[in-house]
Amino acid sequence: MTQRKILITSALPYANGPIHLGHLLEYIQTDIWSRFQKARGHQCYYVCADDAHGTPIMLKAQQLGLTPEQMIAQTSVEHQADFKDFLIGFDNYHSTHSDENRAFASEIYQKLDDGGYIKRKTISQLFDPEKQMFLPDRFVKGDCPKCGAVDQNGDSCDACGATYSPTELKNPRSVVSGATPVLKDSEHYFFDLPAFEQMLQDWTRGGSLQSEMANKLQEWFKEGLQQWDISRDAPYFGFEIPGAPGKFFYVWLDAPIGYLASFKNLCDKTGINFDDFWKLDSDAEVYHFIGKDIIYFHSLFWPAMLDGAGYRKPSSVFAHGFVTVNGAKMSKSRGTFIKARTYLDNLNPEYLRYYFASKLTSGIVDLDLNLDDFSQKVNADLVGKVVNIASRCASFISKKFDSALSADIAEPELLADFVAQGESIAAAFEQREYARAIRDIMALADKANQYIDAKAPWVLAKDESKQLETHQVCSMGINLFRVLMHYLKPVLPAMAAEVEAFLNIELRWDNYQTALRSHKINTFKPLMQRVDPVKVQAMVDASKENLQAAEPAKTTSKTAVKADAAVTTADAAAFEPLAPMIQFDDFAKLDLRVARIVSAEHVEGADKLVKLQLDLGFESRQVFAGIKSAYDPADLVGRLTVMVANLAPRKMRFGMSEGMVMAAGPGGSDIFLLTPDDGATPGMQVK
Ligand code: 2FM
Ligand code: ZN
Repeated sequence: MTQRKILITSALPYANGPIHLGHLLEYIQTDIWSRFQKARGHQCYYVCADDAHGTPIMLKAQQLGLTPEQMIAQTSVEHQADFKDFLIGFDNYHSTHSDENRAFASEIYQKLDDGGYIKRKTISQLFDPEKQMFLPDRFVKGDCPKCGAVDQNGDSCDACGATYSPTELKNPRSVVSGATPVLKDSEHYFFDLPAFEQMLQDWTRGGSLQSEMANKLQEWFKEGLQQWDISRDAPYFGFEIPGAPGKFFYVWLDAPIGYLASFKNLCDKTGINFDDFWKLDSDAEVYHFIGKDIIYFHSLFWPAMLDGAGYRKPSSVFAHGFVTVNGAKMSKSRGTFIKARTYLDNLNPEYLRYYFASKLTSGIVDLDLNLDDFSQKVNADLVGKVVNIASRCASFISKKFDSALSADIAEPELLADFVAQGESIAAAFEQREYARAIRDIMALADKANQYIDAKAPWVLAKDESKQLETHQVCSMGINLFRVLMHYLKPVLPAMAAEVEAFLNIELRWDNYQTALRSHKINTFKPLMQRVDPVKVQAMVDASKENLQAAEPAKTTSKTAVKADAAVTTADAAAFEPLAPMIQFDDFAKLDLRVARIVSAEHVEGADKLVKLQLDLGFESRQVFAGIKSAYDPADLVGRLTVMVANLAPRKMRFGMSEGMVMAAGPGGSDIFLLTPDDGATPGMQVK
């Protein structure tokens, strides 16, 4: 077999949030492929990095009171710990906020500019006059220009599905400050994607893309490629564009360049030749594993950027679908938005690696993690079939035969059948048809168990005249188990390592054909426990708790004191009969947050209502509160309060109310708005 040079990447996770099971599908899929290629003897590298730039990262750091550099450093440590514990074997993990990435981004930009592929145009965009920043689409909300639905995002309407530009929104407001954005001109830099259409058409027709992706690209070609805005104005966390003070590369410009940067960082540490992989006529293979939502970036912008800058293009881009849990989108309230760490706190990472592998194909289809099916499949296949083979044979070998396997293979044809399937199982891994590989491996595991059932070594062992047969049957079982574990090694690297220790061999693609004869093995230790349903439930429960504990709240004590005070001063309230008891789960549904009152106004025609604009740190809400009898609106501005942040918006006579503020008191002038401690900041969760 000729040795291939292969570079593999997974999409770079944003540095402002934790890794969750949705991410892990991709890293597990890629890691299995990378381990498989390495095991086949190829020169293969798997690199990744944190995607560290952009407005959301800048704002999140501000919200946490950290510099972006501090926040991304912290996130990188957490991401890498999660990946390590899920046995994701990166050869390098880097950051897009790195020297290498700055150098490549500048170089590629310069080459594109020299080639005439960067166009400069002045455009008008929404600008937050309070925060003094341009607002990305998702940081503007307002009424849909088509159907009038309130509180719609800056680019599309959830109510009627219309897509539009944020400048078309009616009553727009900045999600960052609540201010009404104004239009402001600025010069932007555009990458001339249409200039690459012919090249991209040829690349697409090269035949190495998934058919769904190739079809999608044809649609995009038909719609016509557009110039791509690659610059953003300060304030922005990213790289300043050389020769353009105050202008920064848009995060998506330098994100894929992060693949080069991470690989270069690896090359510099190890002596690998970077050019062998990236120069124009490179014979190496480069593959990007990505989610279906970022196909446009990877199949149009990225190959065009590489082409325009004189680098080779990817050999292929492999997209996968999204993860659903129990048949639905991952949900924080249902506890199915499961963070990597919450999973690891409860369950063995190899359960998930196996489950995902058993369902992964090369298509761009969503994958459902059904938690009952997950437990059932892991228990039935790994514990009930695979481990069971070894556990039924190993003890006889150690106790009765001095830990040595027999010299003869009792059923050479059966073993030959197991070995013969190696190449088709390898082909399934190569084609990313892991589900097929697993199906074939489990069919073999069934055969091995049938053999052991039929021979019943536990019966043979009791008959002194059948000791040779007992030895041969158990040795046969161990040899079959060895072949299976060999095939499963890319999926279950930790268990495979334990099996290597137990069998005293290395499981390699150049030795699985060789039967173990008269070979000493070590003591068998249980290799995998059954999935504990209590732990699965604990993981779901902890995911619900995660939601509550997402932001530490310093607000509780003072809030409680204020509420108590209100009750004691208003005797009437103390005698209000209690509402019916609710369960903790009901209470847990409430997402209470600290909010700052940005503006407060009388509502024309309403006796009791004050219209509040509340800043949650990450977004702004309009709420109508029945507190007019107790407060002069002017006194409320700037104050912190507590709101129910996940109350569905209600259309009121005077407009939409997007939440509810918390107050105690019987009414009239005795209404006390809950006020958290001074240290609290908008967005903090109240527990
Ligand atoms: O969609 C995302 O999560 C991006 N951070 C992926 C970037 S992949 C590559 F281009 F860097
Ligand atoms: Zn609409």
